[in-house]
Order: sequence, then structure tokens, then C-alpha cells
Amino acid sequence: MSEPIVAPTIAAVRSAVRNARAGQGDRRIALVPTMGALHAGHLALVERARDIADVVVVSIFVNPLQFGQNEDLSSYPRSLERDVAALADVGADIVFTPTESEMYPNGPSATRITGGAAAGMLEGASRRGHFEGVLTVVAKLLHIVGPDVVVFGQKDAQQVFLVQRMVRDLDFPVRVEVVDTVRDEDGLALSSRNARFDPRQRSVARTVHTALEAAVSAADRGIDACVAAAQSALMGEPLIQLDYLAVVEPGTFQPVDDGFRGKVRILIAARVGDVRLIDNDLAHLG
Ligand code: PAF
Repeated sequence: MSEPIVAPTIAAVRSAVRNARAGQGDRRIALVPTMGALHAGHLALVERARDIADVVVVSIFVNPLQFGQNEDLSSYPRSLERDVAALADVGADIVFTPTESEMYPNGPSATRITGGAAAGMLEGASRRGHFEGVLTVVAKLLHIVGPDVVVFGQKDAQQVFLVQRMVRDLDFPVRVEVVDTVRDEDGLALSSRNARFDPRQRSVARTVHTALEAAVSAADRGIDACVAAAQSALMGEPLIQLDYLAVVEPGTFQPVDDGFRGKVRILIAARVGDVRLIDNDLAHLG
């Protein structure tokens, strides 16, 4: 595979995309937004982008707007050179690597995109302002790159829901493509933050997936059985601090009522040591 074009500025990425579009025929552009520290989960997004578009743009930007004051912005893993090499291997064409001052030249932008009530629940309740930061930077990236399709991972289910709704509500001319969560052999969802686990924490962390599996298997017996199954798996592991366990309706992200039957998404957020984990799965409540 050839080396991707590395574009550190908005002008450079716009010009690279314009040149790529000017190639033969009507070339479809895909954008994969990331914060770097790439792992196989990100590379699966790039591979999907490769399958469905002619030109793949990957952005690498650790967006300060989506980190709260006590969160891990300064310790968030950064590995730009390794990331660009990995992207060359999977055939990315353009890598957009802006600095903070390139994206926010006047400091954090005053204009923000909020996601309504659904952005204040679950992840949004635990991480105030998080989704405002995510939606604002995703909107900027969509304006800067102008892709035909933007690719996200299902692991961040609430982010996917809010981005899909923003794209609909604000008429962004882009399709949102969602790729299944990539997992380690024991089921732990891949995440850049997993690099911070010590071996003991790493082995405990898989319990989040065990709990999800238990909840999915119990779902046909109703919501109480579903929640109890996840809780009992999580409570068996004292090193896990549960943040939330929620069962929502996939189309609205609203928690389901007792007695609800049908397709639901089960979401878990938990902390192991100082690493926060999120995961989710679909189930059918009977
Ligand atoms: O999912 C992420 O890595 C980030 O939230 C995103 C979409 C790249 C925005 O900064």
C-alpha cells in the first residue's frame, strides 16, 4: 500500500480531498473520525470505509472539547507515527492530523452543537458536556472534509445515536455507516484506554462483556431477569465499579418501561482502576 497524505491543516486536507475527488469518475469519499491510539477496532472502521468508498480520509484529533475537567485528556494515549504507519497498511489515503489551535484557533469554540435530552443521559450524565464536544467536533470534521459517508463503531452506541440524529436534524449530506464492535478473544471490547490496564485489571475488565452476555441470554425472561443477570455477573467482581447499567429502546435511546417487549440495547459503563469502560449489545426482551 502507498503512504497516505498527511494533512496537518484544514487547508491541506481540503486540498487533498479536492484533488482526490478530481480523479477519474465520481469518487466517493469516506471519513473515519478518530482520536488516534489506533487499534484493530479503528482499523476495522478504515477497512469498512475502504470497501464502501474510493477515497478514505482518517482524522486523528484528541478533541479537548469532549473531555471533562477531571478526565484523562492529558494522559489520553497518543501515538501519531505508529498510527500513520498502521493506516498506510490498511490503505487510508489521507490522514488529517490537526493541532488544537488549528481546530480551535480562538480557544474552545463558542458555537456548540447540543444533542438534546438524550445527550444528558448515560454517558452524558457521567461526563457532562461530553456529547456537546463530540457533536461539535464531528460537525466541524464533516464540514472540513465533506465526505459522502462517515464511519463509526457501535461500541460508542450513544455517540452513534446522537451523530445519526444530528445528521438527520441538520441535513448533513452524509450517510452514517456503523461497524460492529471488535473484541479481544475473551470478549473485551477494544478501546485505546485498555492500554492503561495492568494485567490484573485487564483480566477483570472482561467481566463487563460477561455481564452483557448474561443480560442478553436472560432477556427473553423480561427486563428484571435481564438486569439481574448483568448485576450478578458484575457484583461477583469487586474490582469493578459500575457506573450504569441501562436498557434502552434503540430508536429513541429512552429507557424502556417495565413490561416492554421487543428489541432493546443494553449498555454498561464501569470503571476498573482509573479506566472507564463502556460496552453494549442488542437483545430481545420477551
Ligand atoms: O469516538 C471517538 O473517538 C471520538 O468521540 C470522535 C468521534 C473521534 C470525536 O472526537
